[in-house]
Amino acid sequence: MRIVSGIQPTGSLHLGNYLGAIRNWVRMQDDLAATDGENGQCLFFLADLHAISMPHEPAALHAATLEMTAVLTACGIDSSRSILFNQAQVPAHAELQWLLNGTARMGWLNRMTQWKDKAGKNREGASAALFTYPVLQAADVLLYQATHVPVGDDQRQHLELARDIAQKFNNDFAPKNENGEEAPVFTLPEAITPPAAARIMSLRDGSKKMSKSDPSEMSRIELADDADTMAQKIKKAKTDPEPLPSEVAGLEDRPEALNLVTIYSALADTTHEAVLSQFGGQGFGAFKPALAELLVESLAPVRDRFVELRQDREMLDAILARGAAQARELGIPTLDAAYKALGLVRG
Ligand code: TYM
Repeated sequence: MRIVSGIQPTGSLHLGNYLGAIRNWVRMQDDLAATDGENGQCLFFLADLHAISMPHEPAALHAATLEMTAVLTACGIDSSRSILFNQAQVPAHAELQWLLNGTARMGWLNRMTQWKDKAGKNREGASAALFTYPVLQAADVLLYQATHVPVGDDQRQHLELARDIAQKFNNDFAPKNENGEEAPVFTLPEAITPPAAARIMSLRDGSKKMSKSDPSEMSRIELADDADTMAQKIKKAKTDPEPLPSEVAGLEDRPEALNLVTIYSALADTTHEAVLSQFGGQGFGAFKPALAELLVESLAPVRDRFVELRQDREMLDAILARGAAQARELGIPTLDAAYKALGLVRG
């Protein structure tokens, strides 16, 4: 089992990232450690190369990359058990992307919903990097022969594309062994999405996902928020006037209510049914303070560790340098095999 996943180092970590992805990373890392690493390895990285596909401020990206290293460490990613690194320190990601650009089809990339959403109406003005971004994402996981990729719902389409690229590359270029069988260059990775928190929605609009790029700070809970700010954001979260239903079916067509129940159940590690059996029939006046309390209680330890770690620049640099050295080493065989399969002469 090889687990690989990434996060863009833009802004601070929000609750959607945490519940939809990072908490799962930590669990997978801990489960693997319980088998003494015999069953595989985890690689987690900061997708800093992805972050330049949108307009960005270089100094802010630099700072955010280090901050996100502190955030992930505070969340429980342990660089002595997992490989934690940033893409820019492992040139093989960008190299493999170029090799895969020969296999990816324009039509496939044109269908990516994130490309359509982020480019909006201004496709002519969007960067080429935004369009080819999913090919870099494919390179990120294929480089390490990832078997499992823990992501939120919004990244599943990119993972499907990575599988399509791997399959076409294997079909078109994989060398044959002496029995005439294909020896695939790439493993087809599987997306792993947490059932309970695959998609955490905006606190201001239950039809939009919680996102770093939403201009309203009230739309998301950030890990760096203090307890009062978190409580305020929950208090002001958009809801409807009805009390909570006793059955999950009663949440249909109530996206904001569903989202708050989802957040509660994910934080408490329980089901929607269990939350509704406790709070069904009660109004948001009772539910919101309980949710705010649970949220603050769950995130406070992570936040405290983050505030401490972010100041230790030397340690953050050391974590990234060590992770990059390990990742560079691991990526060599696959990158070499891809160059070779394509017939490129490298001496
Ligand atoms: P990014 O940085 O937008 O998000 C990081 C992770 O958080 C998940 N996520 C959510 N989950 C539930 N609800 C939400 N509202 C929510 N918002 C974000 C995302 O699904 C993701 O798992 N392209 C990726 C980064 C990336 C990557 C990769 C991921 C680059 N290369 C290779 C996996 C494998 C991205 O922008 O995620």
